[in-house]
Amino acid sequence: MGMSLDQSALEALRKPVAEARGLPNAAFVDPDFHELEKQTVFSKSWVFAGRKSEVPKQGDIRLAEIAGEPLIIVRGRDGAVRVFYNVCPHRGARLVTEDRRGTRIMTCKYHAWAYDLAGRLRTRPHFNGPGLHDEKAGSTECVSLFEVRTDFWHDGIFVNLDGKAPPLPEYLAPLDRQAEGFDISQFAYADTVSGRFNCNWKLAVENWSDVYHVFAVHPGLNQMMDQGQRTGADGDGNLIYFRWRYDEEFLSRDPLPRVQGLEGSARTLAFNGHLYPGLAISFHPTMFLFWDFKPIGHDRTRLDLHLYYVASAAHDPDHAATREGKAKYYTGLNAEDEEVCRLMQEGRQARGYDGGRFSPFWDRGTLHFANLVAQSIT
Ligand code: FES
Ligand SMILES: [Fe+2]
Repeated sequence: MGMSLDQSALEALRKPVAEARGLPNAAFVDPDFHELEKQTVFSKSWVFAGRKSEVPKQGDIRLAEIAGEPLIIVRGRDGAVRVFYNVCPHRGARLVTEDRRGTRIMTCKYHAWAYDLAGRLRTRPHFNGPGLHDEKAGSTECVSLFEVRTDFWHDGIFVNLDGKAPPLPEYLAPLDRQAEGFDISQFAYADTVSGRFNCNWKLAVENWSDVYHVFAVHPGLNQMMDQGQRTGADGDGNLIYFRWRYDEEFLSRDPLPRVQGLEGSARTLAFNGHLYPGLAISFHPTMFLFWDFKPIGHDRTRLDLHLYYVASAAHDPDHAATREGKAKYYTGLNAEDEEVCRLMQEGRQARGYDGGRFSPFWDRGTLHFANLVAQSIT
């Protein structure tokens, strides 16, 4: 099935950054390459599926999707959050067709088999012939929805489709190592800003940790802190990260409450980490962000950016205008990024391109990411 990377492409990726080449064009423009990624990148790793705060109450159900595979996130009557493939085990119809609140049972549209919120089959109408309903389906036979391996970190729901990845804490270990003990338990969910990037998902996430382009693409961000105070991203295992320090004066103008209990340099830290494959995380003294990049085809990417603020600032009316301002700011920032990501998608149709040239100062993170992709698919 599909295609992989040839030996010369792999060797070029493994060279020191000054001589290395990135992934070949096909990795971005070929639908077969994306098919291969679905079977490897997105099934072997932990992938962000959604937020627990999307299903706050028992019986809440949210549709989700990972690289084309339909999922449902369900808050059970026991309060636990479970993730199932959104498919009926009978004839394989998609089971749930829209988000739901406070439901007790999931009934398939096709032959009305009904499942409880833990995924167990409850009834099968007319299963044994006309009028002969199977009312005790759950106790007599082991038919249940296909559950996906799931674990949680803060508000984040993570799934591992092939069930074989190392435990989630191992996946998050590089973040623990690099993020200087940042305490996210103080943050509460406020808003989501969604957008679409007309490019392959890898271009969108490479761009996210490309600090180099700030001076050219983001005048507003550059004004806040100029290029001279920025550094390129680095890799640590499945994490690509970069950080900067705010100055106290700048922070003192932010009306949002700050995280409590930070000491010394952690008080002014902005930490940005991209967890392979597609989840980026930002910690700021007053904000926490999940950037959820998901492919929707080989040349389209969806971004759901979830914004969190310290405790009551997430819903306090006093901070409504500030929250609105932040959402607007990130919408604008994403639009600036979308344009250059689209230009990369268009440029990489040119067969003359050979994977590119890297700046040893700025592009280490991009090369690290390309090598993670290569490892997943080979
Ligand atoms: S496919 Fe769902 S009940 Fe038949
Ligand atoms: Fe950007």
